[in-house]
Amino acid sequence: MRRAAIKGVGKFLPPDVLTNADLEKMVDTSDEWITTRTGIKQRHMMKDPDKATTYMATQAAKNLIENTGVDPSSIDLIITGTVTPDHNFPDTSNGVAHAIGATNAFGFDVNAACSGFLFSLATAASYIQSGMYNRVVVIGSDTMSSIIDYTDRTTCILFGDAAAAVLLEADEDGHGIIDQVLKGDGSGKEYLNLKLGGSLHPITAENLNDSGRYIFQDGRPVFKRAVLGMSSTIKQLMERNNLRPEDVNWVVPHQANMRIIQSVSDQLDFPPEKVMVTIENYGNTTAATIPLCLNDYESKLNKGDNIILTAFGGGFTWGSIYLKWAY
Ligand code: UT7
Repeated sequence: MRRAAIKGVGKFLPPDVLTNADLEKMVDTSDEWITTRTGIKQRHMMKDPDKATTYMATQAAKNLIENTGVDPSSIDLIITGTVTPDHNFPDTSNGVAHAIGATNAFGFDVNAACSGFLFSLATAASYIQSGMYNRVVVIGSDTMSSIIDYTDRTTCILFGDAAAAVLLEADEDGHGIIDQVLKGDGSGKEYLNLKLGGSLHPITAENLNDSGRYIFQDGRPVFKRAVLGMSSTIKQLMERNNLRPEDVNWVVPHQANMRIIQSVSDQLDFPPEKVMVTIENYGNTTAATIPLCLNDYESKLNKGDNIILTAFGGGFTWGSIYLKWAY
């Protein structure tokens, strides 16, 4: 059976780092509060005003090309999950294709917030499974610092900037993406959103200084729905693929809050050593969290490992993907 398998990974982290100690000087917070409530110690920040999401996505794609030795002209398609594109249009993926010399590729972006990588991966996999394309680059890239109010302690401690990418190719040996449960619920928009800057509420001279220019989150309801959404879709996947907790080698959760990750793991009886965690170093990098985890844990992965990716984000959007690692 033809499946779509991850055959390589790449990443980019901007060099500047914002620590909890730095945040203590900016807002009324403490390292102790941030660490115990979220698990975050530091996050990377894109401070160069001439560089943002497309640049970071390009660097991650270049790193992927270096790691895999793939010829950019052989790439058929580039899909980028992002909610912080450089511009409303043109999109990120076309900019990346141009910058890396993927002259035969087309591309588009997927807007699904923290589920952006998951939804992009599922879309890319369908193109490969159908036989339409053979080689797709899937990227998660977000410059969250561009939409954060650094005087709002409820959000500024959470997010970081990063990009990470995977190479997806056809596999006929039983590896690759096996199943997926993806969900959405538009009623979630009241709890997590960016009000201004779109077609409904463009930025004007009057609203220029409104808080609606920045990300808004009502944390508690989002927390509850995130735990429910991730654990229920993992359960569905495990049931219909006859997977017991001991059959799963790795769980790769979206990195929004260490307590969310622990609740999901506890509900499903996954021991901590099987759950990828990078939140301490990067914070919540939105669409980049899952491919960043795959980068950082790559050396621990073995061919044939059963892996479950799971995410929850603005929209609401959420879901899980079950795959067998291919290398
Ligand atoms: O990735 C997309 C999806 N997003 C998520 O999954 C995030 C889900 N939500 C969360 O992770 C958590 O709700 C937060 C980390 C955002 C907040 O943690 P919480 O335990 O839910 O805290 P809370 O919002 O209920 O606030 C508790 C207290 C409040 O004070 P009072 O009202 O009890 O006096 C807040 O004002 O903590 C206060 N607080 C802070 N204190 C110090 C809120 N932010 C801070 C802060 N430093 N940075």
